[in-house]
Amino acid sequence: RKFNVAVVGATGAVGEELFRVLEELNFPINKLVPLASSRSAGSKVEFKNKEITVLELTESVFEEQEIEIAFFSAGGSVSEKFAKFAVEAGAVVIDNTSHFRMDPRVPLVVPEVNPEDIRLWRESGIIANPNCSTIQMVQSLKPLDDLYGIKRVDVSTYQAVSGAGKSGMEELVKQMQDFFAFRLDETEIKAFAHQIALNVIPQIDVAMDNGFTKEEMKMVNETQKIMHKNFQVAATCVRVPVLRSHSESLTVTFNDGVDVDISEVRNALENFENVKVIDDLANKKYPMPIISTDTDFTYVGRIRKDVYSSNIVHYFNVADQVRVGAATNAVRIGLKWIELESDM
Ligand code: A2P
Repeated sequence: RKFNVAVVGATGAVGEELFRVLEELNFPINKLVPLASSRSAGSKVEFKNKEITVLELTESVFEEQEIEIAFFSAGGSVSEKFAKFAVEAGAVVIDNTSHFRMDPRVPLVVPEVNPEDIRLWRESGIIANPNCSTIQMVQSLKPLDDLYGIKRVDVSTYQAVSGAGKSGMEELVKQMQDFFAFRLDETEIKAFAHQIALNVIPQIDVAMDNGFTKEEMKMVNETQKIMHKNFQVAATCVRVPVLRSHSESLTVTFNDGVDVDISEVRNALENFENVKVIDDLANKKYPMPIISTDTDFTYVGRIRKDVYSSNIVHYFNVADQVRVGAATNAVRIGLKWIELESDM
């Protein structure tokens, strides 16, 4: 059976990627409806070598177009305002924003980690896609937790500008052009708090009362919700001048008494769905954004045992933010929903 599918935010960085991933993963589509604001209604997007006209997002469009699956990727305020109209029209909403993620009625899903949670979708009509940094992190934590039992995770991120959407990517490119034209000192700073070219910014999203940023607390709360575990997580989230893959440096502390065996760790990661291990330091092989970009895999490497404590492992983790961290995860949720729905 094929479905009527809407993409809200069709002209954005994630929206455009969604069309590519829907095509590549052979999503069973009857009709595809791209939606955006009135600014870009009437423009065209490409799907399977055909041009489709973008429609304006309105309260009634989901009903008019008989939408059954709606991917939302146009920002939290758009989801807040319009997701209910898609649900009322009978669609399942797969929401890429942070708006519904911590709502107890809304499942928060990484299909490789907690696919069964999708079954709870009927309570709200919505399934939430986690934060990009959380997705690639839990894909590597899940096999390790199954192996030894995690007590605590300390993570520092190196996050690409694509996390701020198209305007974030354009701002990095523009600032690099300005650098080579000797006018970086007068460059425009809009998408980020500071200049991002030739810089790193240790702040993503707003400050919280506890001294962490909202992005850092998303990694704590979303990880616990997805994994149904309450092990400790501490994150430091940093924006770096990379276009579209996030990297993460992780220190994972296992339960007391665990004696980490690196070959067991490597096997567990290698055998986990959609994770690939690249780990040969002597030959300069490890994951990097230039390897993960435009792929659907989370790459893990630099796996090593702590020098002092036998229950601690360190590693490095890289994935394409626009795909694994957003579009691909959303499409995988959709495919899993179809599979589960057919026997619900
Ligand atoms: P538009 O092109 O019409 O502004 P990105 O995350 O790359 O910045 O993209 C944001 C996406 O969300 C774009 O497709 C944008 O469409 C869409 N969008 C933003 N605000 C609204 C809105 N109020 N109604 C519908 N779509 C919106």
